Amino acid sequence: MIVAGVMSGTSADGIDVALVRIQGRGSSLRFKLLRHEHFSYPRAVREAVLQAMNSKQASVADLSRLNFLLGELYADAIKKTQQRTQTKKLELIGCHGQTLYHQGDPAPYLDKNIACTWQTGEGSVIAARLGVPVVSDFRPADMAAGGKGAPLVPFLDYVLFRDRRAGRIVQNLGGIANLTAIPANARPEDVIAFDTGPGNMVVDQLMQILFDQPYDNEGSVAATGHILDAILEETLQKPFFCRKPPKTAGREEFGNEFVQDFLRRCGEAPKADIITTATALTGISIADAIRDFVLPTGKYQDYIVSGGGVANESLMRMLEMGASALRLKLKTTDDFGIPSQAKEAVAFAILAYQTWHRQPSNIPSATGAKRPAVLGKISYV
Ligand SMILES: Nc1ncnc2c1ncn2[C@@H]1O[C@H](COP(=O)(O)OP(=O)(O)O)[C@@H](O)[C@H]1O
Ligand SMILES: [Mg+2]
Repeated sequence: MIVAGVMSGTSADGIDVALVRIQGRGSSLRFKLLRHEHFSYPRAVREAVLQAMNSKQASVADLSRLNFLLGELYADAIKKTQQRTQTKKLELIGCHGQTLYHQGDPAPYLDKNIACTWQTGEGSVIAARLGVPVVSDFRPADMAAGGKGAPLVPFLDYVLFRDRRAGRIVQNLGGIANLTAIPANARPEDVIAFDTGPGNMVVDQLMQILFDQPYDNEGSVAATGHILDAILEETLQKPFFCRKPPKTAGREEFGNEFVQDFLRRCGEAPKADIITTATALTGISIADAIRDFVLPTGKYQDYIVSGGGVANESLMRMLEMGASALRLKLKTTDDFGIPSQAKEAVAFAILAYQTWHRQPSNIPSATGAKRPAVLGKISYV
């Protein structure tokens, strides 16, 4: 079956589309990536998305419009990807959508304890434009089963990276950084996965404020600064980093409020030092999480990285140092035939394929769900 996976993550940088040929089921599932394309959001769309995520008072009309607009943009992106390949028949689409709000842990709301999540980007619009059924809205089914609705990519990580002999830690560096630890010869229930904290999100916001750039291109600013040790140490004491997994994070933890507070504490420090320190926050919070929460559970050899953060050379140097101190060998998913920027889009093609066949694809040990769940909602043509 040929399936398109569509991902737009918390960085709100744009849309990744992966065309994937998939066969088999569950642990015998096999796939081949046929094509990956990235489409940046136009500036105004990015601003609207960021505003919808950060605003305490978004207009309901605008949120509704954004849902339909993103449906159109996703459909355009899939169409363009298809046109750039010889791929004949697209049979299914899996679209993650854009997360506007995610609260993985229940909290009191009007006399009930509510955990909730919201991804936008209308599946019906995509299905109508392409004449192909769409699976979207993957996270609520896991939450309804008692999970945190995230992370969902561990299913792909398990299919792709499990190994008879090697224990592997698979790390994605998107807006948020999350890892999947797969012990040697693991069963699905042996997998550990959680968000370690910020990936690029904090650095991106600081680059916007201090340098009017969307991100630190190749980590070149971070390469010129020094780490502000006291601020780094103080920030690493935040409760999120100390909390045991499973745990998830988003803009609610590391968005605007976090960044304003971080900036205040940096005071008059040179701008480049602030970027270097935020980059180190990502690198060191990841290494600490591996040391404290993963390595005590078993033996691991490989540390396999993906996501936009792979292009940040300063961050990658810090991760390399962290990995070698923990006796892990740093690799990227490119070494396994999956371009770093394509992995999450591939994941949503595979999750959609599972759903289409009424198969579950959450990993309860990763999300905290009480049971396996078939994820998502289907928009038929
Ligand atoms: N050339 C580059 N140099 C440094 N960082 C980059 C580069 N290209 C992309 N990135 C980083 O990757 C991020 C996008 O990564 P992505 O994996 O798409 O995250 P998300 O899943 O949150 O959308 C950008 O916001 C930026 O921080
Ligand atoms: Mg992205």
